[in-house]
This record gives sequence, structure tokens and C-alpha cells, in this order.
Amino acid sequence: MEKISVNKAVLPEEIDRQKSYINRIKEKNQRFCDENGFRKQAFIMTLGCQQNEADSERLAGMAEAMGYEISDKPDNAYLILVNTCAIREHAEKRALSIVGQYKHIKAKNPELIIGICGCMVVQEHRIQDIKMRYPYVDILFGTSSLHKFPELLFEKMQRGKRILRPDEKEYLVAEGLPVRRESSYRAWVSVMYGCNNFCSYCIVPYVRGRERSREMSEIVNEVKELVADGYKDITLLGQNVNSYGKDSGKEYDFADLLSELDKIEGDYLIHFMTSHPKDASRRLIDVMASSKHIARQFHLPMQSGSDRVLKLMNRRYDFEKYIGIVDYIREKMPEATITSDIIVGFPDESDEDFEKTLDALRRAKFDMIFSFIYSPRKGTPASEMKNQISPEVKQERFERLLKTQNEISLASNKPYEGKTVRVLCDGRSKNNNEVFCGRTEGGKIVLFDGDDGLEGRFINIEIERGDTFALYGKIKK
Ligand code: SAH
Ligand code: SF4
Ligand code: F3S
Repeated sequence: MEKISVNKAVLPEEIDRQKSYINRIKEKNQRFCDENGFRKQAFIMTLGCQQNEADSERLAGMAEAMGYEISDKPDNAYLILVNTCAIREHAEKRALSIVGQYKHIKAKNPELIIGICGCMVVQEHRIQDIKMRYPYVDILFGTSSLHKFPELLFEKMQRGKRILRPDEKEYLVAEGLPVRRESSYRAWVSVMYGCNNFCSYCIVPYVRGRERSREMSEIVNEVKELVADGYKDITLLGQNVNSYGKDSGKEYDFADLLSELDKIEGDYLIHFMTSHPKDASRRLIDVMASSKHIARQFHLPMQSGSDRVLKLMNRRYDFEKYIGIVDYIREKMPEATITSDIIVGFPDESDEDFEKTLDALRRAKFDMIFSFIYSPRKGTPASEMKNQISPEVKQERFERLLKTQNEISLASNKPYEGKTVRVLCDGRSKNNNEVFCGRTEGGKIVLFDGDDGLEGRFINIEIERGDTFALYGKIKK
């Protein structure tokens, strides 16, 4: 496989060139503001995973530097960006339906510029689709061109023509872009981009390019700044953080990165995702166990409990290896939470295979799982496999999976009753304004009676009830 070295970073001159476009747009937007008495709004809609959330914070940072006011509604926007996901069919359908709704906003304001970016629009068939069926989309750019957004937007403003830029297939690391973080106490920090694993069902390696790691010094500096700015919870992002550093030919790996970050003084926690079980090392677990700031939480996607299906998925581990890691985490950190991803209805998955997945859940006793119905992705090997599973069987397995896991999740939350846990408060719950919510070090959701002003702070909560999806308690006086 082709190795991409860190030398393939976007050159600082290129970043400066993009910043000059940012300034030119800022001048235009300032003139607009002077003439009309208000600033143009920009709205960014983000679908997909945390990687996309992190990318959108860069897009928002660039838009803000261009003089836009970032809005949480699209209605009065002069710039709308939809940052798309391609992981399952549902994600793509949703993106297209959302884009469809913006047609009406454009009818009211012809000056509105609509852009689509992210994983979905790296795929040629989607680019064609948008070209033909969504004439009101003005700019389109793939994941490799994120840092070129200022130039594309400027060209669009200048020339008026649609700019549907196919992905450049040259995937680099871009440092030094402005960022506008959503939260003032939880932050994302990408440590690497792309994926080399080619799990047979997954579109990510096709839409995000090969693995490339950021320099350790860049990451350490970013985390230091965040801690100094009062951030309490920092999540390191990568599709497979365990291969951090391997592409760059450096001496260090992910465990070294964690040790280095752990030295930063302050009251904060570091989470990370995602770990691929094929190369989650014992050294990594040892480093976590002896650390001060690395949260005792592991997200370790298992995908299936059947060795035959794991092989078809090209996951490169078997259940024995997988459960060995789980056991080792529990041996070193009995208090750790472990979560997982499971796919049901993978091609040729038999009843027997599926039963093995249920058995695996009972054996692994995850605190929680994210479960998915297999969705064929164009261009991936699994979409061409024989014996695709019918929607009915997929649905039935999915429901049984949830039922089995719900009992396990409940059993994992019960022992918290009567205990006191440290929680980072997220303010009022979005589902019920009356109660406050937060998360434990292990990522468990905690609901409690609180008061405004606690958001972004660590507080101790006495747990009164452990339920399937959350813990309930009161503030310890
Ligand atoms: N890099 C991460 C996962 C990223 S995608 C990892 O390897 O663990 C998040 C999850 O989406 C995957 O773990 C998988 O469970 C699910 N997923 C990916 N492709 C899918 C598909 N085609 N259909 C259904 N679920 C899928
Ligand atoms: Fe997809 Fe596998 Fe890469 Fe995760 S490791 S992003 S599931 S190909
Ligand atoms: Fe993430 Fe979806 Fe892309 S899960 S990497 S936004 S395909």
C-alpha cells in the first residue's frame, strides 16, 4: 500500500494563499454590511461522525474570518454549507433531502450561495447527480479540498458560475486553518485523517483517502492551548487512532502521544476514538491505566461475534483476539467503560453467525453499543457479495440485538446506584428542559436536578437510579 508521509502536508504558502481569499471575501462582506446595515449570515449543517463535526468547526472558522455571522438557522443565510456523510444510505438520503429544502430559501434570496462538501460528494455518481438534479447548488468540494473552501467561494462570488470541484484525490494534512469551536469546554482534536483498512462494507477509505498523521508537536500544542483556555474534555479523533504515527516513519506511536499529552498540567480529561481491535496494543492500555488524564473509556468496535463474518468483513481479528483485549482492559482498569459498534445483516450472515454476535454481547458485557443495519455502499466489496440479507431478516435481527444489549446496559448501570460519580455538566438536557445532563469519565449520560451556571464544570452526582440509557441522581452537597 502506498505510504503517505507527513511531508505531504499542505504547504504554508498554500494556507497563506487561502487566507488571502478569506481577506478578499471579508472586504466584500464588509461592503455589503456597510450598504445594508447588517452582516451576512452563514449556516453550516453537519451530518455524520465527529470527524465531520471537527471539519465543520474549521469551515465555520473560515466563514467567520470572512466576516459572516454564524447562524443556527438557515432561513436568512447568505451562505449555506451541507457537510455530508456517506456511511449508510440513510445518511445520503438525508443530506439530499436537506439540500432540497434549501431551494425555497434560495427562491426568496437569489444571493444565497449553497455549498455541499464532505464524504458524500467525493463519489463520482453523487457529483453527477447533484450536477443534474440540483441546479441551485453553487459549490461542491470533497474532503481533500476542505482548506480550499475560501478560494472556491471567492471564485463563485467573482464569476457567478457553479463550481463543482471533483475531489482532488490528493489527501494532505492542513494545519493553521481558523477554527470556531461549538463548545467552550468540550473540543475535538484530529490526530490523523483517512483510513487504510478497507473493511469490506465501508466507504470511508474511498472518501477520506489514506492514513496521514499530524505531527505530535502540533497536537501537543493544540491540546496545551485548549487546556489553557479552560477546555475540560478533549476527544482525539482518527478512524483508527492505533495506527497513529505509522505512516510518517516516526519513532512514536499512539501510546507515546497519550503519554506526552498526559504530562500537560490541568483539570481535564482526554478521550479518543476510534480504536481498531486488530492493533489495540497492551502498551496503550498500560499507558491509560497509569495516566492521570486519559479517560477510562474504550470504544472498540467489534462489528460481529462470528469469525466467519469478521473474515468476510476483512476486519483481521477473530473473537478470541477481540475478547482478549476486553479482558485485558478490565484487568488493568476494572472501572473502565467499554462500548462497541455492531453491524447486523452483513451479506451471508446466517442465523448461527448472528447468534454468535448475541453470545459475544453477553460475554463482553459492553456498557453500550451503537448498532447498525448493514447498508450496501457502491464500490465496496461487500455490496457485490452474494446472499445479501432481506430487509425483514435484518430488521428482526436488529430488534433482537437491541433487546439483548438493553438488558446488558441496564445490568451495567445498576451497580452505580448509591455511588458518587464525577460528571462534566452539559447544562439543560435537550430532550427535557427541566433536567440537567452531563457525562461521566466513561461517557455515561447522567440526568439530575441542577442549576444554570454549572455547564462546563465538573460536579459530583450521587446516583439514585441506573437505567438502560442513563443514570439518574442528585448533586452531592
Ligand atoms: N473507523 C471506525 C468506524 C467508522 S464508521 C472503526 O473502524 O471502528 C462507524 C461505524 O459505522 C462502523 O464501526 C460500523 O459499525 C458502521 N458502518 C460502517 N459502514 C457501514 C455500512 N455500510 N453499513 C452499516 N454500518 C456501517
Ligand atoms: Fe471503515 Fe474499517 Fe476504516 Fe473503520 S477501520 S473507517 S470501519 S474501513
Ligand atoms: Fe464520518 Fe460519514 Fe465520512 S461517518 S468519515 S462523515 S462517511
